[in-house]
Amino acid sequence: MMAAASALQITKLTLVRLVTATVMVAMANVAAAETGHDLWLRYAPLADGPRGVTVMFATELVTGSTSPTLDLAVDEVSQAIAKMTGKSILSRNVVDRDGAIVIGTTRSLPLIAKLDLPLASVGKEGYVISSVRINGHETTVIAGNTDIGTLYGTYAWIRRVAMRLPLGGLTIADAPSLQLRILNHWDNIDGSVERGYAGRSIWDWWTLPDVKMRRYVEYARANASIGLNGTVLNNVNADADMLSETYLDKVAALADIFRPYGIKVYLSVRFSSPMELGGLTTADPLDPEVAKWWKIKSARIFQKIPDFGGFLVKANSEGQPGPQDYHRSHSDGANMLAAALKPYGGIVMWRAFVYAQKSKDRVGQAYDEFRQLDGKFSSNVVLQVKNGPLDFQPREPFHPLFGAMRHTPLIMELQVTKEYLGFATHVAYLGTLWEEVLRSDTGIGSKTYTVADRLSHPTSHGLTGIAGVANIGTARDWTGGVFNQANWYALGRLAWNPNGDAQAIAAEWAALTFNPDIKFVDPVVKKIMMPSREFVVDYTGPLGLTHQMYTGHHYGPGPWIGDPTASIASSRYYSKVDSTGIGFNRTSSGSKSIEQYRPRIRKVYGKVNALDNRYLLWFHHVRWSLKLAGGRTVWDELVFRYDRGVSGVSQMKKVWHDLQSFVDDDRFDEVTSYLAVQQREAQWWRDASVAFFQNQTELPLPAGHAPPPHDIVWYKNVKVTHVPGTGK
Ligand code: GCU
Repeated sequence: MMAAASALQITKLTLVRLVTATVMVAMANVAAAETGHDLWLRYAPLADGPRGVTVMFATELVTGSTSPTLDLAVDEVSQAIAKMTGKSILSRNVVDRDGAIVIGTTRSLPLIAKLDLPLASVGKEGYVISSVRINGHETTVIAGNTDIGTLYGTYAWIRRVAMRLPLGGLTIADAPSLQLRILNHWDNIDGSVERGYAGRSIWDWWTLPDVKMRRYVEYARANASIGLNGTVLNNVNADADMLSETYLDKVAALADIFRPYGIKVYLSVRFSSPMELGGLTTADPLDPEVAKWWKIKSARIFQKIPDFGGFLVKANSEGQPGPQDYHRSHSDGANMLAAALKPYGGIVMWRAFVYAQKSKDRVGQAYDEFRQLDGKFSSNVVLQVKNGPLDFQPREPFHPLFGAMRHTPLIMELQVTKEYLGFATHVAYLGTLWEEVLRSDTGIGSKTYTVADRLSHPTSHGLTGIAGVANIGTARDWTGGVFNQANWYALGRLAWNPNGDAQAIAAEWAALTFNPDIKFVDPVVKKIMMPSREFVVDYTGPLGLTHQMYTGHHYGPGPWIGDPTASIASSRYYSKVDSTGIGFNRTSSGSKSIEQYRPRIRKVYGKVNALDNRYLLWFHHVRWSLKLAGGRTVWDELVFRYDRGVSGVSQMKKVWHDLQSFVDDDRFDEVTSYLAVQQREAQWWRDASVAFFQNQTELPLPAGHAPPPHDIVWYKNVKVTHVPGTGK
């Protein structure tokens, strides 16, 4: 250890000295007004807070030869310490203080190789944070095998400081479980964002590549701080122009900005681009001219962006072109693109979100099309599968493809933007939704084998990942409401570790974003964030009822839309409601979609009353009078749950109201007004739904449940126009 330290003294190092300090900054009761723009990276002044934790700072910063990424790490620590303690950092050439921080890789700083750190276990993107003694001094080492691993470690260490976790005696070795940790932007070239509720697209395509906005750097930094390593810049309903020379230059400018933060750029591509851009008469994947067009295009892209990630493709879905237009399979289409990208290390993320209006059971279609293609995809193709078989509903069972396709790399697509959960205005923490899916047993093997297991264990291709449809826009706070930031944060943390704990992630986020005081974090996490998604389920679609929202824009209730035999886009197709009963029979006596699950799972879902009836009406058509496990009839339970959702929102409002002293005025007031909107809309959902279903059943409301203030005709006449997120 001593030898290593003297070697260090003669190495040309950038050394920075701080003062070991016990930080005792008085905590202002209410911080200055904040916009939310700084996300979870506020680095608020630390205090010897109510937890009684004295914050001991590691205080001397040492790094060896630098790189753009290591520079960022050093800068981040300096910035964090300066902001949190008010102390600036002084340069020195030796490690001679307790509390020094050493940052780097074995390559950038030979000292690190001599320290016997568990670096072998953390791979390319992981890190080690370790408390060691150098020259007799207590030192913290933040190290990775790569620069980006080191940067991730830096953010992890700063998080500990900001959360006031102990900083001594550390031995942390952490690495991401998944390789692809990606945001999908559904951003259009015209600046609109499909299903975006936080302003316009953050990409200003018009001024790129010349104008490099500050927010591009801030975006990359935010993603790196939570371990995300990729971004698909444009909508899956893609415009062929995105692959034009003009736009590729713009994309290259963004890629240059993101690179030091370890963020790779990907593009959604339109399958028919060879026709629109290349003037070909076909986009048939087996046509040699088509394959050649994609090869030339890929070569061009990699010339401009050497570390380009690859393509995301929505094909033969919702009117998008695809290989089936030429009677070819999805694998024919994906493999042709994959061959074009392969020489440069690019990948194809082929989406499994497909359905046709004619399908007998909408939720069974992806399985029907893709199951038979298992093992037929090239080695640089991954299949991107939504968490559930329908479409990002507040609750769905996990997608059966996760249990079915054993020879194809599957990555999971989540929706961070809340298309079906109240847009940006409702508080709905999605960590719990994602955790529920990730922890679902797939039925593979003889013991529990969860979706998280399936995602983390590579197939022979070795590619693993999670993608999240972004909720980011030009809103000053990025996400149109501070609580929506928690979902961006949770995406990063769960993509890093799909076995992560939603509650712990919520607590981390709340502490960093607002206030680490346990008297704040505890109620916010337990009484607002954790139950919030279940409240949305209750007031929009309890008991496994699904897709009851208004058609098209998906805002507000529309349970009356369509009829049971009508189009799959209608609420009544999903509810199959009539005077005798409700629910979609997917058992063996119905659509049989339940058979897409493995036997162990089929058995669970096949039982009425399984899992607190959370999927009851998803899998079963039941009589209104059926008595459920808790003793209520289906009708009474439905009404009970609608009301439970509404009172849940009242509870969140009350809890938030009592936390005013912990939050700055601006963010406090903003959340308060969003919660008021949510309260009003939850009530609307409940009243409209109860009015409609009562109109169907003609049953009396159970005792103690108020009748809706209007009749069903009134609710049907509520028309909302100019709804955001429809891509205009
Ligand atoms: C949903 C969403 C669309 C989107 C589609 C997709 O259906 O409403 O806007 O294009 O998902 O994931 O492709």
